[in-house]
Amino acid sequence: MKIGSHTLTSPVYVAPMAGVTDAPFRKIARDFGAGLACTEMISSEALVRGHRESSRLMDLSWDQRPVSVQLMGGDPVVMAQAARIAEAAGADIIDINMGCPVPKVVKTSGGSSLLRDPDRACRVSAAVVAAVSIPVTVKIRLGWDFATRNYLEMATRLEMTGIEGLAVHGRTRSQRYDPSADWEAIAQVKASVAIPVAGSGDLRTADDAVGRRLESGVDAVMLGRGILGNLWLVRQTVTRLTTGQAIPDLSWTEQIGLVRRHCELVIDYYGAERGSRMLRKFIAWGLKGFRGAARLRSQVQSVSSPSDVAVVLDQALTIDPGDRTLDDDVDDEPASCAAA
Ligand SMILES: Cc1cc2nc3c(=O)[nH]c(=O)nc-3n(C[C@H](O)[C@H](O)[C@H](O)COP(=O)(O)O)c2cc1C
Repeated sequence: MKIGSHTLTSPVYVAPMAGVTDAPFRKIARDFGAGLACTEMISSEALVRGHRESSRLMDLSWDQRPVSVQLMGGDPVVMAQAARIAEAAGADIIDINMGCPVPKVVKTSGGSSLLRDPDRACRVSAAVVAAVSIPVTVKIRLGWDFATRNYLEMATRLEMTGIEGLAVHGRTRSQRYDPSADWEAIAQVKASVAIPVAGSGDLRTADDAVGRRLESGVDAVMLGRGILGNLWLVRQTVTRLTTGQAIPDLSWTEQIGLVRRHCELVIDYYGAERGSRMLRKFIAWGLKGFRGAARLRSQVQSVSSPSDVAVVLDQALTIDPGDRTLDDDVDDEPASCAAA
């Protein structure tokens, strides 16, 4: 499949996730065959002001191409300026966030508040399309709330502004991350536009991805919470969708090996101190669902150096983890989503 002139190697996207899809995370996902990865959401206002942390979020030096940069904001002029900055920084695709439910974002008229104002959403989209020479995509939810679900209007009107791809998270803003995503609505969007559509919501296994893609007809699937602590799902999904073959879950030793690889990349990227603190959540997610690892998960919360990380992971190799159970207790977009 293609987004503009970019041919993607697989129909599997990594969902943009604030506080998660940073350079090391994207690197592993692309190494496992993801066709497209997106940065964390970046505030257009902060980027235009030259906010250092926002510019860092746009560091694409570790990325396989193409890579997408997600911008958030409700002011067409500022969004156009931010898009030009992202293009100059090497973005291959600009994605516009029209789904973030966090109150701080909604107050700025960005994120999901654009779903309540389709005219503004189209002005933002048209301004970004006109500002850059790279493809622009948009990620939406189904609407602000159930009573005002306007996904077909949003999709068809946004398409007319010249965007070259759409991602649909099958929930409204009021639903946040529960209950389950509405893939029938995603299928309706796919049927009503000509641009490529990616579907997002509740893809926990390669079977989920295959089934949802088949029944909805979407061009691509977007993996979100399913890959927190389980990046191997990217490889499993890519293999299932491209060859039909099912590949097994990782053994415990392999899983710890993957967590260790992730830790090395994070420490390399952020440095020992910041990297080790950032790793707490990633290690905890990597051990999640394994009953035998409960004690280690609490130990992870005090990790503050690369040697602490090594101790936890070495200990992990000595336990009997039991079978993994899939649970979904990653509740909401983290504070960094609001700050970004
Ligand atoms: C921790 C977290 C952070 C997220 N951050 C973003 C973001 O920055 N931009 C965005 O468009 N969506 C964001 N999302 C939404 C996901 O991209 C995805 O659409 C959503 O989680 C639904 O997929 P899932 O049910 O498979 O998790 C975030 C989700 C989570 C869980």
